[in-house]
Amino acid sequence: MAPAPSTYSVITLNINGEKYSLPVDHRTTLLDALREHLDLTGTKKGCDQGQCGACTLLIDGRRAVSCLQLAVAAEGREITTIEGVAEGEQLHPVQQAFLDLDGYQCGYCTPGQICSALGVIEEHAAGWPSAVTDDVRPEAGPPPLSADEIRERMSGNLCRCGAYVSIVQAVAQAAEAQTTEAEAEEAAA
Ligand code: FES
Ligand code: FES
Repeated sequence: MAPAPSTYSVITLNINGEKYSLPVDHRTTLLDALREHLDLTGTKKGCDQGQCGACTLLIDGRRAVSCLQLAVAAEGREITTIEGVAEGEQLHPVQQAFLDLDGYQCGYCTPGQICSALGVIEEHAAGWPSAVTDDVRPEAGPPPLSADEIRERMSGNLCRCGAYVSIVQAVAQAAEAQTTEAEAEEAAA
């Protein structure tokens, strides 16, 4: 009888610009690989079934819930976790906005909220409509990033502390800061 195929592989993950090789059971989620195998515990586990957003990170620049991703499927992708968002000691504008505006209470959902906000700002700038966008014609361009737009786009990230008012304000502030910076760079070019 042929031996049963191994359910383990050694994989290499590219996380925050660093390469990590690790043996994993093929059933291991990316979230568990980060937390249990690599000690990268910034990404949080809430529901472990894709419903709370606590485990949100970026894969190739797009937000994803890591509890629904298999680690083996993340090989060769660029993974950004909350540990890789700041530039050394310099907080990312989204992190700074959460700090400035108290966009958290206990902080458990915050890494996922911040990674999701990074995705929201990029998606909005790229002209992606949301479920509350009135005019979805491509020629209409991105809608204003109103509180309603932010609430809808961040709706996959739950906060048990109910810090939603401040979270929406923080995302709005960070988006505005990034737009101003982009405009300044464009004017200087
Ligand atoms: S832990 Fe992944 S969505 Fe809740
Ligand atoms: S700050 Fe406590 S769950 Fe969001």
